[in-house]
Amino acid sequence: DLNDAKTHNHELVPHKGFKLISGTHDPEDVDQIYNLEIRDSDVFVVTYPKSGTIWMQQILLLLEMKGDVMAISKLNKFSNADLIPWIEVNGNRQAFITAPSPRLRVTHLQHQFMPPALSQRGKVIYVARNPKDVLVSYFYFHKLANMLETPKDFDEFFEKFMRGDVFGCSWFDHVKTWFSHKDDMNMLFITYEEMIQDLQSAVERISSFLGKELTDEQLANVVKHSTFKNMKKIPQANYEQVPGDLLNHHQGRFMRKGTIGDWKNHFTVAQNEMFDKVFHKEMKDFPLSFIWDI
Ligand code: A3P
Repeated sequence: DLNDAKTHNHELVPHKGFKLISGTHDPEDVDQIYNLEIRDSDVFVVTYPKSGTIWMQQILLLLEMKGDVMAISKLNKFSNADLIPWIEVNGNRQAFITAPSPRLRVTHLQHQFMPPALSQRGKVIYVARNPKDVLVSYFYFHKLANMLETPKDFDEFFEKFMRGDVFGCSWFDHVKTWFSHKDDMNMLFITYEEMIQDLQSAVERISSFLGKELTDEQLANVVKHSTFKNMKKIPQANYEQVPGDLLNHHQGRFMRKGTIGDWKNHFTVAQNEMFDKVFHKEMKDFPLSFIWDI
């Protein structure tokens, strides 16, 4: 049963201060992203893993389709990620070069890999999520995703996350680097928690950032079809058709909980104190605050 098999190579490949996933990313190909030409109409969604990538993909797709969720399902693709692909995944960079506009892409990459041309053209949406919830969501995702090593237990994963010994880099480095380049490009910086607390305003902000003109009714449809409750039912937003050798569907759903503060069900008091200490040290010069629970 492929669903039960962890058939993939879980090796992380360190590359210029960033860890790529063997088999999913090719370091030489990732380096070529830097040289891509950028069009005014290009949009990159940038996230640290588990910060709401699929949610932003859903909102962008709905904005493109003017709120018509049926139009998305008719596009006959497996997942939101087939419609708005990761630029760094093998094969996707080549497709980007010749793709018709608007080219909507997502990336988990660090800033240094991205084309400098983004400072002249194109748009970037950075979605940040409070890192305690990111850690918990990432823990469950490691059980689900066969290209990532299944953690022994939560404590082991906690240590790995704090060391940045996961795909990519440490959460702190990612958010700080991108945030410090906020004014070098046309960037909308938005948090997962803002989106949870007021999805309507978030969608309006995203829509106007992208220069979209939707009617109130169309905007209401975008909001309606991007709530957690409704996305949970949409196969494309759930990777449901992604084969079991990539996502172990027996382990749970991609759309897991979608809340703020689930870390409180997982962190010990000691882990929380340690986390707060690191957060304070790493973020003390950054004017960024997060909502930790509601
Ligand atoms: P949880 O595991 O905490 O539930 P990414 O797409 O970057 O991998 O992020 C996945 C996380 O975003 C998961 O978090 C998922 O449930 C959550 N998510 C996706 N769509 C959401 C929505 N519409 N509302 C709230 N959370 C959502």
